[in-house]
Amino acid sequence: MLRVLLLIFFVGCSHRVRIVTPSLNDSRNDHESFASKTMVTTQGRGTTEAALETFKNGGNIIDAFVAASFAISVERPHSTGIGGGGFLLYFSKKENKVYAFDFREVAPIAAVKNMYLTKKGETQPLLSQEGALAVANPGLVRGLFDIHKRFGKLSWAETILPAIRLARHGFPLYKQLQVALLDRKDLLLLDPEAKKTFYLLDGSIPSLGSLIIQENLAKTLEIIAEKGADGFYEGKVASAIIKTISKKRGLLSHRDLKTYKMVERIPVTGIYKGLKIYSMPPPSSGGIHVIQILKMLGPHNLKEKGPQTAESIHLMANAMQRAFLDRANYLGDPDFNKIPTSSLVHEEYLSKLSNSINTPKALKDGSLKKIELPYESTDTTHFTIGDEEGNLVASTQTINGWFGSGVIAEGTGIILNNEMDDFAQKVGAQNLFGAVGGEFNLIEPRKRPLSSMSPTIITKDDSPFMALGSPSGTRIITCVAQTILNSVEFGMPLYESVAATRIHHQWQPDVLKVESPYLDPVVEKELQDRGHKIIHEKLGCSVQAIKKTKNGWEGVSDPRGEGFAKGID
Ligand code: GLY
Repeated sequence: MLRVLLLIFFVGCSHRVRIVTPSLNDSRNDHESFASKTMVTTQGRGTTEAALETFKNGGNIIDAFVAASFAISVERPHSTGIGGGGFLLYFSKKENKVYAFDFREVAPIAAVKNMYLTKKGETQPLLSQEGALAVANPGLVRGLFDIHKRFGKLSWAETILPAIRLARHGFPLYKQLQVALLDRKDLLLLDPEAKKTFYLLDGSIPSLGSLIIQENLAKTLEIIAEKGADGFYEGKVASAIIKTISKKRGLLSHRDLKTYKMVERIPVTGIYKGLKIYSMPPPSSGGIHVIQILKMLGPHNLKEKGPQTAESIHLMANAMQRAFLDRANYLGDPDFNKIPTSSLVHEEYLSKLSNSINTPKALKDGSLKKIELPYESTDTTHFTIGDEEGNLVASTQTINGWFGSGVIAEGTGIILNNEMDDFAQKVGAQNLFGAVGGEFNLIEPRKRPLSSMSPTIITKDDSPFMALGSPSGTRIITCVAQTILNSVEFGMPLYESVAATRIHHQWQPDVLKVESPYLDPVVEKELQDRGHKIIHEKLGCSVQAIKKTKNGWEGVSDPRGEGFAKGID
């Protein structure tokens, strides 16, 4: 793969600025598309094609959403799947309304606060990351079924067909899946079905381009196509899930599966530069913090300072730090704790925060109360769709870590999530990744773990303007915010807004992460002089964004990944 450093000279501000952009793919064609009617950007070619096929067969945007959800469950088995959960933001143009649906996994009924602690109260991070005890009650199928029943046009079975085909006939092994197979090899080889599906007979990893066929998953999808959500939460498939979990000493029960409920929530909103931002409310932290970051930066006229200058990045990092401090203090499942959502995005509060980030030096431990954050994995997936009527869909879905818990429900091809790891094992304890959990995110039966997933929809004068989202744990928040800043504040074209080098700060650990190919060395030096500890690190985001154009839509699938943007004229 050709790795070139693109230097884009951007003249949209008062002085000429060099924007550093990593370009990780040879072909821009797959990653950028313009079309007059519909637009789909996802992290998989087969998934984008599944959504487009659904439109061509007369389906509406919700049918395309269901088709893409099932297809990506097959095509990115390391990131998401029917053994996981997610969120959907849906803008219905004719109602001028944004719906938010929460089909995130919930803790099993038998879960208890200290289930991962030793008798001495020490944490055991591996228990919430690998094996049956890490599995939370999956919500994806229930969510898709209920949403489709309410808004879909095609038959339920028709929307699942492309995914069944993808599972049965296979897709060529791609680099990111190969990397995940290597990373989780020790765990997956313990499971005979995982071994048979994803590895060669001797346990080695197939070469790039080899067909990945998931016949058991195809059969499970056929049952779900025939029986609806009951095909997953009851009957043969449910029995296989519970039998496997019980054998491996997990907690999930038939009662859990039968009683799972999707929740419709009210999106969190904010006005930024004349645009209305809608994003995911708690149990995601994402929406609140995307809005906080944008609104803290709003009054500072970043455009004048220029993109990727030390001054802009310093303010962006300070805003990110300040938002993440609130995350640790206030966020969790709103069905279990009073989360002050409206206060956190209140104009007066954000105006105070905006003033507090305008410091000559980086914010430090002494200047704000320090609370560390719960760990979240780097994986997950996101897709974005727009249609001819001006409706929008932004959905982020996950099984959490690569291949979730590593447990496959016997004979079903369903890889079960490890979403229990998004909870805090105990307050104040460091987990595997050096982060410390907050009180509102402790484990309770049927509670949803805190998320960072930030599906976001932006409207202008009640019409679609942009929709986007990304995978990658806590980085989702800052990647989504930066894409919006690049486009709205700095006026960059959508492709450059997505492709430009990103930074990330999450308060704790106190480091400013800069992804390759890094910023201008002069800028980095100035940031260091202001007290930022810079480290160079991959951020893992893969932003999938679409924007309204004069003639229809522009779609961009992050050039860092192996996604596919395509529309219909
Ligand atoms: N499991 C990743 C997230 O929910 O943010």
